[in-house]
Amino acid sequence: MGRVSEGGEAPPVFRGRALLTRKSKIRVSEKENGSSEPGRGTMGKGPRETRIDTVIAGVERRCLARGVYMIGPEKGLFLRGLVERARPGFVVECGTALGYSGLHILSALQSIGKGMLFTVEIDPIRAREAGKNFCRAGVSKLVEVMVGDAAEVLKGIAGSVDFLLLDNNFENYYKSFLAVRRRLADGALIVADNAGIGASAMADYLGHVRSRFTSELRWFDTALPWADRDAMEVTVFKTISA
Ligand SMILES: C[S@@+](CC[C@H](N)C(=O)[O-])C[C@H]1O[C@@H](n2cnc3c(N)ncnc32)[C@H](O)[C@@H]1O
Repeated sequence: MGRVSEGGEAPPVFRGRALLTRKSKIRVSEKENGSSEPGRGTMGKGPRETRIDTVIAGVERRCLARGVYMIGPEKGLFLRGLVERARPGFVVECGTALGYSGLHILSALQSIGKGMLFTVEIDPIRAREAGKNFCRAGVSKLVEVMVGDAAEVLKGIAGSVDFLLLDNNFENYYKSFLAVRRRLADGALIVADNAGIGASAMADYLGHVRSRFTSELRWFDTALPWADRDAMEVTVFKTISA
């Protein structure tokens, strides 16, 4: 059975990269999910890419059918390319939902052969579903899903964050960014989704990064039911300006 573990103490988890309580970590067993997990050693191009892309397509369909917001294919491919070029060792995502954007990130990590994703979702039902999707895609060894408010959870992480995706409701971006700021590596990339349709609600965040760092607004034709055009803010974090 998969479970949300209930540990009372706070030992380090996440393979030594993040210090977090076990309380809200999602675990989905292979048995529950009905898939086997070969691990990175046997992952490569070809059949594995097909598997993750098949799962991405299925998650996209479920998100659209149920009205669960996700970044969509255009921004997904852009995100994938960014991760492939940045070659991050440690990626943090705020707002997992059903794992759609996470799967794009994981596909990139799989293709570059390095890196881990740590993703935070406040809704435990969504987090569990995302965990199952990561299992189905064969990438669960590369990802940790945490349940909680990103602005709280991220205060507890250790290690150096090379890539940050903010996608956990516009008004939460700035406090989530502040929670992880001291862990961001010099030159880390930060991508804030919905910087077009949500610009006014995330004005505090956008004002902060645009006044301190190199930051660019990238527009997309999205063809999603909730927006046919939207943007992502892509920022290069510099410790000297933080
Ligand atoms: C737009 S969806 C994320 C979509 C996802 N990144 C994707 O593209 O597949 C926003 C998600 O953020 C979650 N959320 C909202 N507030 C949050 C918070 N304070 N901390 C973590 N997650 C939060 C919501 O439950 C929702 O699932």
